[in-house]
Amino acid sequence: MTAIEGSVALVTGGSRGIGRALVEALYERGARKVYATARDPRAVTHPDAVPVALEVTDPASVAAAAEQAGDVTLLINNAGASVNANFLDSPVDDVRREFETNFYGPLLVTRAFVPVIERNGGGHILNVHSVLSWIGLAGSYSASKAAFWSQTNSLRLDLKPRGIDVTGLHVGYVDTDMTAGVDAPKSSARSVAAQALDGIASGAYEVLADDVSRQVKAGLAADPAALYPQLAAV
Ligand SMILES: NC(=O)c1ccc[n+]([C@@H]2O[C@H](COP(=O)([O-])OP(=O)(O)OC[C@H]3O[C@@H](n4cnc5c(N)ncnc54)[C@H](OP(=O)(O)O)[C@@H]3O)[C@@H](O)[C@H]2O)c1
Repeated sequence: MTAIEGSVALVTGGSRGIGRALVEALYERGARKVYATARDPRAVTHPDAVPVALEVTDPASVAAAAEQAGDVTLLINNAGASVNANFLDSPVDDVRREFETNFYGPLLVTRAFVPVIERNGGGHILNVHSVLSWIGLAGSYSASKAAFWSQTNSLRLDLKPRGIDVTGLHVGYVDTDMTAGVDAPKSSARSVAAQALDGIASGAYEVLADDVSRQVKAGLAADPAALYPQLAAV
């Protein structure tokens, strides 16, 4: 369990969408300092947030961010891309690009910040997955989020004895730039951020922030035919 009040947090992709809502919620709950990253730090407009330039796929950029934010106790790996490459038709480089951002990016960031958090007495990491970690409806995006979920599960075991708790966040559509072209019910970023911080504060291993995430997770133990009714139509 990690107290939000008094924490020093870093939110990757903290200038907009879910990341921006997390920055706002952290300050509302008494975080002492919140670093918000963006590839162009001028995009960080929250009046209290400390802007940090970060390209998660670039090791030099990640190292510079860890150097700048040496007092972090709470890391939120939120930055992510939605390439949605189709496995049969899209260039394989698109699949790789998605993994660079959604799997290797947070891996680089976590590796850089674990020693920082340890030095500061321990803390917490929140990884932003998706309901699509559990259902393969979005090609490379689903695969990258499934791999990220697995990374989180392994890291949780490695980091608990080192004083760092790890929470994974799963959610369906959220109303952000990423889903601007989607016409379907969406959660608000504010509601997702509030549930994520509740999960950190209570030491939850997973936060399932909407009904679709809870339904899909409950279906994982069933035969794939239940999770993929499309199969019956073929
Ligand atoms: N929206 C949804 O329906 C939904 C559902 C489930 C999970 N998620 C996940 O939630 C997270 C946030 O998504 P969102 O909906 O808030 O998306 P968004 O509004 O499109 O924002 C994406 C964020 O990720 C950052 N980012 C992307 N590629 C990056 C890179 N290579 N290096 C550094 N930062 C990078 C962006 O930073 P810049 O400002 O520098 O571009 C931006 O802040 C993502 O991991 C996404 O997969 C979203």
